[in-house]
Amino acid sequence: MTARTRDVEKAAGVLRAGGLVALPTETVYGLGANAEDSAAVSRIFRVKGRPPSHPLIVHIGGAELLDDWVEHVPATARVLAERFWPGPLTLVLRRGPRVPLEATGGLETVAVRVPDHPVALELLSLFGGGVTAPSANRFGQVSPTTAQHVRTELGDAVDFVLDGGPCEIGVESTIVDATGELPSILRPGGVTREDLEAVLGCPLAVHSTSRVRVPGQHPSHYAPRARVVLVEPEKVIAEAEAAQELGHKVGVFLPPSFAEAPVEAHAVVTVPASTAAYARELYGFLRELDQQGCDLIIASVPVEEGLGLAIANRLRRAAGPRSAV
Ligand code: TXA
Ligand code: MG
Repeated sequence: MTARTRDVEKAAGVLRAGGLVALPTETVYGLGANAEDSAAVSRIFRVKGRPPSHPLIVHIGGAELLDDWVEHVPATARVLAERFWPGPLTLVLRRGPRVPLEATGGLETVAVRVPDHPVALELLSLFGGGVTAPSANRFGQVSPTTAQHVRTELGDAVDFVLDGGPCEIGVESTIVDATGELPSILRPGGVTREDLEAVLGCPLAVHSTSRVRVPGQHPSHYAPRARVVLVEPEKVIAEAEAAQELGHKVGVFLPPSFAEAPVEAHAVVTVPASTAAYARELYGFLRELDQQGCDLIIASVPVEEGLGLAIANRLRRAAGPRSAV
C-alpha cells in the first residue's frame, strides 16, 4: 500500500467516525466532514468561527452522483457538470433530502462540486459519501493553498490533514446559481466566465451583491492581517514609498510591467505576468507579507478577464472594510 493510500484510508476513517479532515483540492484546501453527519457539519462552523447561516459546499466523487444530492438537475446544470467536472466549478441547485440543513445554513438550495484533485477523488471514492467542506481557514482569513498553511492556522482543531501538495489553481471555485432558467455567477473563481459563456452560448451575469448569503461577499474576506490598499498599477511604487516614508512596514505587489523597478519598501513580491501563476501564488503572497511583518500591502487589480476576474474579486474583498467581518 502506498503512503498516499494509507493516508486516504485514515482520512476516510476519520470522516466515518464524525471527525474533521483537511483535504487538498485543485483550488484551496477544504475542511471536510461527512455531509450527512449534522454534528460533524456543525463542528466545521465552530472550528472556522463561521456563522451557522453561511452555507457550505458538498464535494462529491463524480458528475454521475449529482442526482443523489439535489432535488432536480436542470438541463443547463447537467451541461455544466458534464463539461467542467471534475473541476473548479460549484453548482447551486435545489437541496435533496440527503443534505442536512446544517450544511446549507438553512437554505433549500445546496452547493455541489467535484474537485479535480487525485487525492480528493481517491478519498471521495473510498469514503463513498459526500464531504462538506469550506476552505480550511478561520472565517474571513486567507484560504490555505498548502497543507502547512492548514496546520499553522487550524492546528489540533482538525483531526487529520491529508497532504496533497500545493494547490494547482490557488483561488476558490466559481459558484454558479443554476436553480433558475438563466444561470448566474455568485462568485468568480477557477472556471472563467468566458469558458462558461462559451459552453452556454449566452452572457452570464456576475452577482457580486447577491441576496443569497455568500460569505465571500462580506466586504472584508480572504484578508491577511495587513491592511490592503488597491491603487492604479502605475501608482503602486509611489504609494508604497510614501507609506514606507510615513513609518509603515509596506508590502508591495509589484505589477509585472514594473518587475525590475527598485522599490523602497519592507517587502516586495513581483506579480507573475500569467494570471494562472498569479492565482496560484496569490494567497501565498498575502501570507508571506503577513509573515514578514508588513502592516500595509499596496497592490493593484489585474485586468478582469479570465482568471483576472477572480483575482481582482479576492483582492477587493481583502481590501474591504474590516468592521464588516
Ligand atoms: O474551491 C472551493 O470552492 C473551496 C474548496 C474547498 O472546494 N471551497 C470554498 O468553500 O471556497 P467556502 O465555504 O469558503 O465557500 C463556499 C461558498 C460560500 O461563499 C457560500 O456562501 C457559497 O459557497 N454557497 C454554499 N452554498 C450555497 C447556496 N446554497 N447558495 C449560494 N451560495 C452558496
Ligand atoms: Mg472560504
